[in-house]
Amino acid sequence: MRKVLLLLACLLGMACVKAADQPFIRIGTKSTDLIYKVGDNGRLYQCYLGKKLTHPADWEHLPLMSEAYVTHGMEDYFEPALRVLHNDGNPSLLLKYVSHEAKEVSPGVSETVITLKDEQYPVLVKLHYVAYQEENLLKTFTEISHEEKKPVTLYRYASSMLHMDRGAYYLTEFSGDWASETHMQEQRLAFGKKVLDTKLGARANMFCSPFFLLSLDGKAQENAGEVLVGTLGWTGNFRFTFEVDNGGALRLLAGINPYASEYELPRGEVFRTPDFYFTYSTEGTGKASRDFHDWARKYQVKDGTESRMTLLNNWEATYFDFDEQKLVKLMDDAARLGVDMFLLDDGWFGNQYPRHSDTQGLGDWQETQAKLPHGIGFLTAEARKRGIKFGLWIEPEMVNPKSELYEKHKDWVIHLPNREEYYFRNQLVLDLSNPEVQDHVFGVVDGLMTRYPDIAFFKWDCNSPITNIYSAYLEDRQSHLYVDYVRGLYKVLERIRAKYPHLPMMLCSGGGGRSDYEALRYFTEFWLSDNTDPIERLFIQWGYSHVFPAKTLCAHVTSWNSKAGIKFRTDVAMMGKLGFDIDLSHLDEREVAFCQQAVQTYKALKPVILDGNLYRLVSPYSGQHTSSMYVSKDQARAVVFAFDVYPRYAEKTWPVRLQGLEANRMYRVKEINRMPGAKPAAGDEGTLYSGEYLMTVGLPLFTTRSLNSRVLEVVAK
Ligand code: GLA
Repeated sequence: MRKVLLLLACLLGMACVKAADQPFIRIGTKSTDLIYKVGDNGRLYQCYLGKKLTHPADWEHLPLMSEAYVTHGMEDYFEPALRVLHNDGNPSLLLKYVSHEAKEVSPGVSETVITLKDEQYPVLVKLHYVAYQEENLLKTFTEISHEEKKPVTLYRYASSMLHMDRGAYYLTEFSGDWASETHMQEQRLAFGKKVLDTKLGARANMFCSPFFLLSLDGKAQENAGEVLVGTLGWTGNFRFTFEVDNGGALRLLAGINPYASEYELPRGEVFRTPDFYFTYSTEGTGKASRDFHDWARKYQVKDGTESRMTLLNNWEATYFDFDEQKLVKLMDDAARLGVDMFLLDDGWFGNQYPRHSDTQGLGDWQETQAKLPHGIGFLTAEARKRGIKFGLWIEPEMVNPKSELYEKHKDWVIHLPNREEYYFRNQLVLDLSNPEVQDHVFGVVDGLMTRYPDIAFFKWDCNSPITNIYSAYLEDRQSHLYVDYVRGLYKVLERIRAKYPHLPMMLCSGGGGRSDYEALRYFTEFWLSDNTDPIERLFIQWGYSHVFPAKTLCAHVTSWNSKAGIKFRTDVAMMGKLGFDIDLSHLDEREVAFCQQAVQTYKALKPVILDGNLYRLVSPYSGQHTSSMYVSKDQARAVVFAFDVYPRYAEKTWPVRLQGLEANRMYRVKEINRMPGAKPAAGDEGTLYSGEYLMTVGLPLFTTRSLNSRVLEVVAK
């Protein structure tokens, strides 16, 4: 029986194989293997990470690399995964292998847990690995617990530690700032440490997104080369450390940023780290992204396999300056455009301190009587009359000092009691480590939903980092605040999801200040950036597309950079989850007609764009042209987007090879989404090509016209 079970486990790709009397532990997906071995000293070593090894007999030849989860205080000289201080003052930890078990969680998903323990101190560490076979994705996290009499202090607590030993390492980061998110920058790593981290608490990703590309032996390429793409599911301070040691080996540590966050762990309690997700591709970043998208839709994102609503948002059309009449007129616009929903943004609440600007009112979630005398109920009814849904903006984790909430509950606010307050966007963060505050934040959503059950969507904003860090609730455990804040947030989101399981919500944080996969368990989509200039968006969307599928990427047509015509702006937004944030009265009839048609075209293309495979064909970083395409899973339909930004005079353009089609199938190519009356370019009127031709010879997608764009539909005959 044991033999049968062992064989079954091997077949499932989560095998344990005995060699030289020490077990190998293989954590495998369809195309990747991560292999550990217990050394003669009883400690656990990583011995492989890379392309799947199909001959288990070879494992014996694998060199022991570094210890799997390096602890502080022993013989290692580089960055540890775990550093604890025991309550007798001893700072060391030595982990020995105890056992491991593997089980199938669901078809195609297996979990391996490796248990390690110190023989001197009763500290237990469990390394978890969840392998998604088809999607070639691994999720890892760690559980730390102990049985010492008094609390043990954790100073470092990585989710995951991985080792690589290659000729060269190239790291691509996605950094930036407000309105300029995800600038992709690649650098070669040499001896020493490169750290990507944030200390912002809330709005944690304002300067740096929690994901990266690590290319091995050469720079990252779209369709070739070995690359590890990783991201942390944590809506707070994160840290990735890439350290190249004296021997040229690289260790990668991913987890919560331990900065100012030493954590006292009481006996018997389990410290569970957030999840680190990664995929290892031997076919470049394109394949890695597609695997991430498939996994995210199927397993991670809220309602990941469902469709998404198109919408009209009033923010850029009105900012804070609106009344019922204006909103109803915008709902007329929404209905005229044919979108699914109207989204009311900031500025609808506060009475003692009406929210006429970002200086006041945050925290007081009652409609401003003077502005909306008939309340939200009137608006949801008006939306219903027009056959559209109604969505609402909230920012429930925050407070303006000029608000009734602040006056009533100063103890709920993160601030230093004995210093002048520092404000970011005139506001402060509520202390979500406090269960009373969690109730309050849950109550914002629950209260609105109870009063107005017709609300069909929330945009949940978070515009401030944590400043003036001090919690009245945590008393002498101040260093828990960054961590407990995020845990408190998850408790609230969990309650919302339990009560309103399919309520779609957009995650927003002053643009893309929050963009992680743990948050996306509770949100259907996120706002990438307050910068909606279509040229900038080409870069920003390109960046996020490395890890997130199109259905999570909110992309709105606005009036930023109207030098780029309405078609260009709409074509850019159609590559994500399409919305509009524009006053239709600023468009002429032809432009409105184009937008109406575009909404219908988009609706018809949703299964391809939102659920298909993304192929990034030409990078905006490579010059004045960019192109991406989406291919339906059955390869019967595709849509190609091509953009000319500011080409030089008489610049040479070149044919672009499509990807992801079937070589032996015939496809009809037609230019769609044209301005009313515009003719398709020659060769794009429904011409028939083989998939082979389209992928080998390619199409002349680019022109030398500035701010020009084209959308081609490719349909199998
Ligand atoms: C943030 C968001 C914007 C908008 C404003 C409202 O900046 O990113 O989309 O909602 O807040 O104040």
